[in-house]
Amino acid sequence: MLRVLQITDTHISPAKAHFASNWAPVAAMARVLQPDLVVHTGDVTVDGADMAEDMVHCRALMDGLDLDWLAVPGNHDVGSENPDHHQAVNDERLARWDAHFGPDRWLREAGRWLLLGVDAMLMGSGHAREAEQAAWVETVLATAAAEARPVALFLHKPLFLNDPDENDRGYWTVPGAARAPYLAAIRAGSIRLVASGHLHTARIIRRDDTVYAFGASSGFIVDKLAPADLPGEKRLGATLHILGDDGSVESRLLTPEGLDTFVIDDVAHEVYPPHR
Ligand SMILES: [Fe+2]
Ligand SMILES: [Fe+2]
Repeated sequence: MLRVLQITDTHISPAKAHFASNWAPVAAMARVLQPDLVVHTGDVTVDGADMAEDMVHCRALMDGLDLDWLAVPGNHDVGSENPDHHQAVNDERLARWDAHFGPDRWLREAGRWLLLGVDAMLMGSGHAREAEQAAWVETVLATAAAEARPVALFLHKPLFLNDPDENDRGYWTVPGAARAPYLAAIRAGSIRLVASGHLHTARIIRRDDTVYAFGASSGFIVDKLAPADLPGEKRLGATLHILGDDGSVESRLLTPEGLDTFVIDDVAHEVYPPHR
């Protein structure tokens, strides 16, 4: 059995400390739980996409857990997949992530389990690393299938909101065109857990044999700035995944004591002022 603690969307910066006080409760809970691994599913920083200081600060926080950890980047860490965005993912931003947090994609073997972390911000970007990652994922998933090993997938953006065949949801999910290899592995029974962040809502669903954990942010919730139909509960927390040796998954929402339910709407003009 493997216990993986997923934390996500902490949005921490030394310069913009609006949500920083929520780190201590999460860290304290993690130290008590002593999971086998902590996975941060992105938006670690407020603005690591442009601020090296955010990266340095958040790396130190992660190391301060004194636990084994891995992370995949979010849009606020490496930029957007949209080439027209003022913070589009590029070589410089990816290199900054790599320097402070390690590779943006990774594979960890744990018993029979394969823990697969991918960079959702590449998907649809056209950056050279997008195709490299896709080819690498294909190999990993083929190996998993050949060896009949269960896979737990970690990525910042969810594959979809409600239905694998839904239309693209733009900012909120990975592009529909990028879903196919993952959906094929899910339908083949290979990927048993999909753990994502980005939505700042909490929801755990089981669909066929796969658990989808739309991980609760421990930074802030989004009130009226989110679409009205965005699924999930508007509450903060963290998610514990218990991965059984038989390939089973039990995921549960945890609520660290002492979290303040910050609302981004109240401070968006300071934290993420509109780009001019
Ligand atoms: Fe976020
Ligand atoms: Fe995000």
